[in-house]
Amino acid sequence: MIVTTAQLYKVAYGKFAVGAYNINNMEQILGLFRGNVQSKAPFIVQLSKGARKYADKRMLEAMLRTAEEIFPEAIFAVHLDHGDEETCYDCIDSGFYSSVMIDASHEPFEKNVAITKRVVDRAHAKRISVEAELGMLGGVEEDIQVDEGHACLTNPEEAIDFIKQTKCDSLAAAIGTSHGAYKFKGQQSLHFEVIEGIRDNLKKAGLPPTPIVMHGSSSVPRSEVERINAAGGKLDPSARGVNEEEYLPAAKLGVTKVNIDTDGRLVWTRVHREFFRDKPSEFDFRPPGTIFVEEYANFIAHKNEKLGSAGQLEAVRASVKK
Ligand code: G3H
Ligand code: 13P
Ligand code: ZN
Repeated sequence: MIVTTAQLYKVAYGKFAVGAYNINNMEQILGLFRGNVQSKAPFIVQLSKGARKYADKRMLEAMLRTAEEIFPEAIFAVHLDHGDEETCYDCIDSGFYSSVMIDASHEPFEKNVAITKRVVDRAHAKRISVEAELGMLGGVEEDIQVDEGHACLTNPEEAIDFIKQTKCDSLAAAIGTSHGAYKFKGQQSLHFEVIEGIRDNLKKAGLPPTPIVMHGSSSVPRSEVERINAAGGKLDPSARGVNEEEYLPAAKLGVTKVNIDTDGRLVWTRVHREFFRDKPSEFDFRPPGTIFVEEYANFIAHKNEKLGSAGQLEAVRASVKK
């Protein structure tokens, strides 16, 4: 069942985080739905501009509608990840998306506010919620590259002003993470003071709690990097991600959506590299595809345990029925 992102946030806020997983192909969709049903978790399917181009947005929509039929127990929202204004309007007008992200965080504050406001107006008219970004994460977001020196944490006071002016429904805040596999060079920790600062300043301003979104949340398990490299890969072994034990403490402070893409790509790369290393004469892609679906489902179920969303499916179902 496709629900609104707001319906998921209502149940999750302050208690657990909803996993927001990027998908690009059929195998990921099968593993994603299987893993969430297996762990009884609500979830958010994220489609990036790149994914919509790679697989064709119509193909993704058709596959998701089919997955909804194959897995009738699943409860999920469909979200545009890192949209520009034009792509947001395309998704809003399509009638398929539960929420969109407008990412104008690379623009100066006032321009970010103006763009976000326009998208919020169009989306709210169709009861679609909007995630906006303030602050800059390091790493690569679609075609925008932000190096570590230019990444900057979200200023909690500015965040309140931004939320007030734009009326966005959730805020992607820069809390020390970055996209991709190489997030931390030194200490590996989230900036909890920024999350707390946003929550406390919202309260002080008399505003309702606004869910915070954590981008760049992959944990980049060392074992995955080692296995990929042992099977012919050349990933930098110093790659570090977010400590999975920090997901839940962050969720209790208001981080309600946790975006994960890179870790899923690592699962894909490990499965396929190992398969073809061990079976060099094989050329049927279905055997490794079958292994990937199963491994990806287990990976999703594991993440949901760490996010606290595992076992929350019935609570969401009850809340949606009300
Ligand atoms: O934050 C970006 C996501 O990981 C999506 O990646 O633009 O390569 O699909 P993509
Ligand atoms: P990762 O690169 O850490 O998986 O982050 C994904 C993301 O933020 C998608 O918007
Ligand atoms: Zn992101």
